[in-house]
Amino acid sequence: MEVPLCVLVTGGAGYIGSHTVLELLLDGYKTVVVDNLNNSSEIAIARVRQLAGDHAHNLSFYKMDIRDKPALEQLFASTKFDAVIHFAGLKAVGESVEKPLMYFDNNIIGTITLLEVMAAYGCNKLVFSSSATVYGWPKEVPCTEEFPLSAANPYGRTKLMIEDMCRDIFASNSDWKFILLRYFNPIGAHPSGLIGEDPHGIPNNLMPFIQQVAVGRQPALKVFGTDYSTKDGTGVRDYIHVVDLANGHIAALKKLFDPTIGCEVYNLGTGKGTSVLELVSAFEKASGKKIPLVKTGRRPGDAEIVYASTAKAERELNWKAEHGIEDMCRDQWIWACNNPYGYQTEKTQ
Ligand code: NAD
Ligand code: WQD
Repeated sequence: MEVPLCVLVTGGAGYIGSHTVLELLLDGYKTVVVDNLNNSSEIAIARVRQLAGDHAHNLSFYKMDIRDKPALEQLFASTKFDAVIHFAGLKAVGESVEKPLMYFDNNIIGTITLLEVMAAYGCNKLVFSSSATVYGWPKEVPCTEEFPLSAANPYGRTKLMIEDMCRDIFASNSDWKFILLRYFNPIGAHPSGLIGEDPHGIPNNLMPFIQQVAVGRQPALKVFGTDYSTKDGTGVRDYIHVVDLANGHIAALKKLFDPTIGCEVYNLGTGKGTSVLELVSAFEKASGKKIPLVKTGRRPGDAEIVYASTAKAERELNWKAEHGIEDMCRDQWIWACNNPYGYQTEKTQ
């Protein structure tokens, strides 16, 4: 019998990580998750086990900070990893402006520590969670992977710095294989309603905020800017179903074993732009709830229109997003109804 490949997933208890871990297990991979649970709950791991059924025995979880080098070394000494998918990181743009050092420490030092340990133990294949944020305010759309890159805030700078680190490491030693995935705006949840996004505190992003309005945790959605040059004046983004995104990681992982791969970057989006008002209206339809709106000024740093060119991922990863906005809103609502307070069963705020 063929021995299954073993993948280390950093940040695997988080929103995108948990959905990806489930798809890895269902695809037959042995999966080891390390997560410090800074922005997640071990309940997500238990739910993934439940959804994975017969494959659940292939999942191990360690509560660990990736900056804890001795702990990471011990893990690599005891397990041979064929590849790493690296989600672990802090991701709140506003917080990164307030606390840049915390972002540099967690995201940059964390990644350097991981790469050093991988190098020491002969593991040279990495899939990294980058972001469409590296396109800044794109001059035109769709964004192709060749667009100029910039960082508008410390969070974005960590993504750009890590991408550059990977390019430099590959230039120094072509044994490394890197796939840098630039996600657009992941939303939705697993259709079972068992796993989904569970932001701590007041959400920064549009969909989690809409969800909290729908379940009565917030009174109204602030629409940031109604004077953009878009179809209805509100910002346009490329929302992608988190299950599609998770499957994009499986496609990327397979590509890492292609002998021709070096250091490659792929957009993961749908190629379709949706405005704030369109998303609100699709969510209202899916949930039957009215979302009260308060129209306010633009949020500093926001781009007007961002959506992906999906051609490269389709061509080279043989991957394409399958779900539309209706599915994303439906699954978000199932998650919200089953878990109005996220993984906490009790009302905590
Ligand atoms: P998330 O916060 O739900 O998941 C990140 C996980 O990493 C959390 O479980 C957290 O506890 C863990 N973590 C953070 N620092 C760690 C550390 N030092 N050691 C161990 N674990 C640590 O976020 P997500 O939405 O699932 O995002 C995953 C990755 O994708 C992040 O790197 C994020 O920057 C990137 N990304 C996210 C989005 C998005 O909109 N959600 C878009 C583009 C890129
Ligand atoms: C989407 C649209 C807002 C909240 C961010 C990060 C990016 C990436 C994805 C990690 C915009 C509008 C939002 C609200 C609103 N994350 N909005 N009211 O800004 O595209 O991207 O998440 O890498 O790096 O910057 O996503 O969901 O915050 O905003 O009107 O309460 O919704 O102005 O047009 P964004 P978002």
